[in-house]
Amino acid sequence: MRKLDKLPTHIGFIMDGNGRWATRRGMPRKFGHKKGADVLEKIVDYCFSLGIKYVSCFAFSTENWKRPKEEVDYIFSLLREYIKNQNNKNKAKDNKIKIRTMGDLTKIPADLQEEIIKIQQDTCKYDDFVLNIAMNYGGRDDVVNACNTLIKEGKTNINEQDISNALYTKGMPDPDFIIRTAGDVRLSNFMLYQSAYAELYFTKTYWPDFSPKKLNKALQNYAKRNRKFGKVN
Ligand code: FPP
Repeated sequence: MRKLDKLPTHIGFIMDGNGRWATRRGMPRKFGHKKGADVLEKIVDYCFSLGIKYVSCFAFSTENWKRPKEEVDYIFSLLREYIKNQNNKNKAKDNKIKIRTMGDLTKIPADLQEEIIKIQQDTCKYDDFVLNIAMNYGGRDDVVNACNTLIKEGKTNINEQDISNALYTKGMPDPDFIIRTAGDVRLSNFMLYQSAYAELYFTKTYWPDFSPKKLNKALQNYAKRNRKFGKVN
């Protein structure tokens, strides 16, 4: 890979196309999710190996409840396996990775909530790398939740920093680069407030076919971009 002079500090992934990937192969959609979870693990490891400090991924949206129950249950079983593996194999601890989640966890299965609380407690002291998993997450819900938090705190004259500090991503920098796979060109309610100045990258590749090589291509594209943040240059 060509040397990357400019890497994002925080990268976000909208992992789309699992269902289509499986259907194209004549397989049930859940095979796509399974392959998608394996690919996520590889991509997260690769991001951290490059020195990207924060990785956010969209595992389950507030809208995904509209899917058939069997598919919803299967996605949660993958999430459970993923978190349990991090807990049991000490993967996150050995690699000093902080695991965070964003979204309303009160609606997800109770045993998964417990596993998440455990991994968050066990890894909260790490600061080298942060994996932020969106579960039952919606960008609008994030902002509404933040507003309600600020109201409860009795805050008035709210500014942008107050809202940032009340979002699920409190303490994390905004994403610099968001990649969406599978061809659709939209954010679909992912990190809406945080992505105000994010560079966006869309690829037709279905998530289960995404790879470190394809990520390199996206990162090379990112490195060439001129981020102006409203300034002239
Ligand atoms: C979008 O593809 C993908 C999802 C809604 C689920 C993403 C979940 C995973 C990658 C696995 C679980 C995650 C972790 C962290 C272990 P789609 O089903 O909308 O695909 P389609 O648009 O082709 O139907």
